[in-house]
Amino acid sequence: MNQNGIGIREESVFDFSGKTVLVIGGTSGINRGVAEMFATQGARVAVASRSQDKVSDTVRALQVLGGEAAGFAADVRDTAAVGQGVAGIHDRFGSLDVVVSGAAGNFPALANELSSNGFRAVMDIDLLGTFHVMKAVFPYLKKPGASIINISAPQAFIPMMAQIHVCAAKAGVDMITRTLALEWGEAGVRVNSVVPGPIDGTEGMARLAPTESIREKVVDGVPLGRFGTPQDIGNACLFLASDLAGFITGAVIPVDGGWAQNNCGGMSDYLASLASK
Ligand code: NAP
Ligand code: COA
Repeated sequence: MNQNGIGIREESVFDFSGKTVLVIGGTSGINRGVAEMFATQGARVAVASRSQDKVSDTVRALQVLGGEAAGFAADVRDTAAVGQGVAGIHDRFGSLDVVVSGAAGNFPALANELSSNGFRAVMDIDLLGTFHVMKAVFPYLKKPGASIINISAPQAFIPMMAQIHVCAAKAGVDMITRTLALEWGEAGVRVNSVVPGPIDGTEGMARLAPTESIREKVVDGVPLGRFGTPQDIGNACLFLASDLAGFITGAVIPVDGGWAQNNCGGMSDYLASLASK
């Protein structure tokens, strides 16, 4: 087991040996957990994010867990850098079987306090960045057979105060998922979104639930009564990337202990009070 509680499993219904998986934004939090889980199932895994240090650290961890790993530093807002990085991974590992796209930015800010630049920063990372990643990977996907998983958020369909930028951006991400499911179905490429609930120990929760009292209220709002883990999200991604999900495309799948069904508890109110402090 590594520090994230992720280790090599002796038995699994999944086998990604010989497959190539690229995780964009895969150097911390949920996405890194997802990358690590694919590595434990035998995949060659590549990760990308802005920080070369985080990329190098993650590649080392993936090599310990699995085997071959690689990475590149790029900002998803820079379409040329993303294209160059993806081409480099293709040169090294061949066609991409699985792409997980999860780079994102978030901070609570009420609309009246949010500048045009602040709104744009999140739109550019989450939404335009997802478009850049989709465009960059398509030529290198295994066709037929590749699986793309966009990491969304409940804000895509549950409006929350102090999250106007994230709500707009992630709703757009899910529409990218649905549109590409239509356009790329013919090529045998499946495109789905996974919608994590509140995942413990992540930057997202540090920003949105920074106090013990908010954390307790978040858990109270989850029907299954606990925070999620990166492994919960990784399990969903393993399934979606596997042949077991071979007829699933264009789906937006909450993996959230039922949180969204409960309107994400009182998250909207907590965020509004947090942002107005
Ligand atoms: P995180 O640890 O901050 O992960 C974000 C990742 O994206 C990091 O690897 C970061 O690395 C990278 N990144 C950020 N901006 C980038 C950019 N402009 N270009 C390239 N890479 C960039 O966050 P997290 O909380 O685990 O969230 C991961 C995903 O889950 C996000 O899509 C988020 O919206 C979603 N989500 C999270 C939660 C939660 O409870 N945490 C709930 C619902 C949805 P660098 O800093 O090196 O760029
Ligand atoms: N409240 C209001 N506005 C904020 C803000 C906050 N907490 N944080 C940043 N902004 C605004 C900035 O003021 C700036 O607008 P301005 O030029 O009008 O002042 C704009 O957002 C861009 O900020 P900047 O710091 O230059 O952006 P960046 O591109 O370096 O970073 C962020 C992008 C802001 C999203 C940064 O928080 C980030 O890199 N996040 C990645 C990690 C993360 O958010 N993880 C959780 C994922 S769920």
